[in-house]
Amino acid sequence: MKEQIKELRQEALAALTSAVDLVQLNERKVLYLGKKGKLTALLRGMGNIPAEERPKVGRVVNELRDELESLWTDRENELLRKEQEARLQKEKIDISLPGRQPALGAFHPLSLTIQEIKRIFIGMGYQVVEGPEIETDYYNFEALNIPKDHPARDMQDTFYITDNILLRSQTSPVQIRTMEKQKPPVRIIAPGKVYRSDSDVTHSPMFHQIEGLLIDKNITFADLKGTIQLFAQRIFGKNTKTRFRASYFPFTEPSAEVDVSCIMCQGTGCRVCSDTGWLEILGSGMVDPRVLEMVGYDPEEYSGFAFGMGVERIAMLRYGINDIRLFFDNDVRFLQQFKR
Ligand code: FA5
Ligand code: MG
Repeated sequence: MKEQIKELRQEALAALTSAVDLVQLNERKVLYLGKKGKLTALLRGMGNIPAEERPKVGRVVNELRDELESLWTDRENELLRKEQEARLQKEKIDISLPGRQPALGAFHPLSLTIQEIKRIFIGMGYQVVEGPEIETDYYNFEALNIPKDHPARDMQDTFYITDNILLRSQTSPVQIRTMEKQKPPVRIIAPGKVYRSDSDVTHSPMFHQIEGLLIDKNITFADLKGTIQLFAQRIFGKNTKTRFRASYFPFTEPSAEVDVSCIMCQGTGCRVCSDTGWLEILGSGMVDPRVLEMVGYDPEEYSGFAFGMGVERIAMLRYGINDIRLFFDNDVRFLQQFKR
């Protein structure tokens, strides 16, 4: 019996050490230590040995069971670790490889320009407001002192929807909507899209304007000049000069168009400024007393100025773009150049 036990131990140890993986190791565990395994079979054979020897033999067999179980567990852990190591090795990632760049979008040059203009005026205490792109004849014309048969209506080729409803041809109606809603003082800018039946290298049927309006007591033309001069220097650079040219708008009196010294040639004359040294950027003036009256402001007590600038025009100057249609073609090669 002792001999049998010793043999079984040798056999089991050999099976244990030669098992190549966890599956095989487990199969062999069942073979030796399982319920129907060789060790159990050995115990069953104990019926043949003398009764007084049974406890001793039983103890030896149980010791062997304990020993083998513990060795199996050790071997199991060892194989488990080896398999894990092998898997880690196989799945290793080279984190030193440079990653793939995700394709990032960028702001449109017109959005960048609008952001910059807003930033400048917010810095001067202005609020940003908006108005509808589909307007009534009243806000786009009548309330701005442009009656039905006024020749100034022909200056802006308007898209009509009905006799009374149109696509706004300027952001100036936002002046009226703002003044109707609030009492002075007023200090706003109103960016947005406007529409005119007009199309060539410098004109687009849809373009952007930014309206400005300031109403308070004792506001003079000098305030308008100072504001525009400061704005021009902030957007185009410190050395930029401004020039006010007498002009006409039905809703301002006096009116002026503002030119800046040419960004390209610094005023010496070039193709961009048609050799004049100056470029027009906006229309402006002191708000006409009739406009103030129509919204219920007392023109004896309050005065103010207004201006309206073309965003495309300013963006073209800032970035040296010579065709307005480039803004709307959505050619990625063009747009990518404004990535920051
Ligand atoms: C006006 O629209 C007035 N509402 C501006 C104003 C506001 C005057 C407040 C006084 C007080 P004008 O039609 O000149 O003015 O247009 C203003 C600017 O819009 C122009 O200087 C120009 O830069 C731009 N602009 C006009 N038409 C187009 C167009 N078709 N495409 C692109 N930009 C245009
Ligand atoms: Mg003009």
